[in-house]
Amino acid sequence: MVVPLISPSILSADFARLGEEIRAIDEAGADWIHVDVMDGHFVPNITIGPGVVKALRPHTAKPFDVHLMIAPVDPYLEAFAEAGADIITVHPESGPHVHRTVQAIKALGKQAGISLNPATPAKMLDYLIDEIDLVLVMSVNPGFGGQSFIASQLRKIEAVRKMIDKSGRDIRLEVDGGVDRATAGDCVSAGADVLVAGTATFRGGPGQYARNIAALKGMG
Ligand code: DX5
Ligand code: ZN
Repeated sequence: MVVPLISPSILSADFARLGEEIRAIDEAGADWIHVDVMDGHFVPNITIGPGVVKALRPHTAKPFDVHLMIAPVDPYLEAFAEAGADIITVHPESGPHVHRTVQAIKALGKQAGISLNPATPAKMLDYLIDEIDLVLVMSVNPGFGGQSFIASQLRKIEAVRKMIDKSGRDIRLEVDGGVDRATAGDCVSAGADVLVAGTATFRGGPGQYARNIAALKGMG
């Protein structure tokens, strides 16, 4: 079985000590750093902006996997790119011209991801798959950490895996929401190769991060 990359969501970190938290998950084996950006409009929660991303950038060399849950999204792409995002993922519902949004991310020299909400079908990718670097399947409704995994999304992960393989392109398949030791294996079996995990990474405090990440990789 594939050993997935782990992208801890810093939404579950201690926001008063974010720099230290990022260094701790880096040392504990995180592959990417998942940054959830929420605007209180596209989703019912408000988190952080490009200023915080920029301040965190010197704390790790690991890729910043920036998940934008904001609308409109286009006016903020450049700010997140300049702040140090490596992968910028957007939701098709956050603007009228998602193909153009993907082109804009690529023009900034960044990897482009498309995130599918639980009710958004895999078919949405038909005319984007040739342009993107990552698909993020949401296994909860976006907005909050600590929600339960929606099992119907496993079928979508399988469908997206088929689309990616058929495309022959190098596209990562990431799952986000309710991923823990129990659901991680199902996601990987369905075809995921990157797992986002907030609660399951940060549970128990810094002394547990390495153990938590190893467990998510199926090695704990
Ligand atoms: C939800 C976010 C997720 C969330 C995951 O809107 O996109 O990244 O923080 O948190 P857990 O792993 O706790 O479900
Ligand atoms: Zn996320």
